[in-house]
Amino acid sequence: MIKQESCTSDLKPPSLDIVEMLGGHHSRRELWATFLNTQRTRVMAEIGVWKGDFAADVLKDAPLIETYFMVDPWANLPEWNKPFNVSQQIFDDIYREMDAKTAFAAHKRRILRGCTKEVVAGIPNESLDFAYIDGDHTLRGITIDLIKIWPKIRSGGFIGGDDFTTTPWQHDVKFEPTLVCPFSIYFAEAMDMPIAALEHGQFLIQKNKNASFSFRDTTALYGDLSLNKLPPSC
Ligand SMILES: C[S@@+](CC[C@H](N)C(=O)[O-])C[C@H]1O[C@@H](n2cnc3c(N)ncnc32)[C@H](O)[C@@H]1O
Repeated sequence: MIKQESCTSDLKPPSLDIVEMLGGHHSRRELWATFLNTQRTRVMAEIGVWKGDFAADVLKDAPLIETYFMVDPWANLPEWNKPFNVSQQIFDDIYREMDAKTAFAAHKRRILRGCTKEVVAGIPNESLDFAYIDGDHTLRGITIDLIKIWPKIRSGGFIGGDDFTTTPWQHDVKFEPTLVCPFSIYFAEAMDMPIAALEHGQFLIQKNKNASFSFRDTTALYGDLSLNKLPPSC
């Protein structure tokens, strides 16, 4: 049974108060622009960059960002059974597209080309105000991404992410299920940190000393986290 948002004692740091400001946006772009500018985010990472659309939006919308780590192999991965796993030739085109779209912020970019586990050492420990996880959404992928990025987040910093879907069957059943939800909730529970489900399929975890776990569902969509829902074709 997941504990929904609980009261905080005076000894505990504020529990994700920022989520009060993150409702009612028309898009994920607007939501994260509000977040990043309110937090005055300066150093961030994106895991899973693809064509650079999100990166370009963020770099335009949040001018205080000084350093933007981009983590992505831009490579066909034999073990990644997801629709974004295109051929190497297409990935090379996609890399060039990302490069062109974010060239206006070349002085802020730090491109780390490789899977999270291979390149995460290129991000200094406790240096990130924010990491946005949008890479491999399988159970393997979200497990590795959250565990490997955690030491890179400074105290008081945040992890956000995409595809916090209400069902694992986001894509056709021939693909691996998407398990960002509920794994991220169980990760936050293990680390004693608050997590929130946000609109547009987004989530947010805050890293703080002396925090405690809570799950705040701002959408009322995540009442049933059980995995025994049947795939849509059954
Ligand atoms: C959904 S796309 C990212 C979309 C992008 N964040 C956006 O909003 O424009 C997923 C990306 O994750 C990358 N990816 C897959 N496995 C990865 C891994 N193990 N580590 C880092 N990135 C990975 C893929 O190469 C792909 O570009």
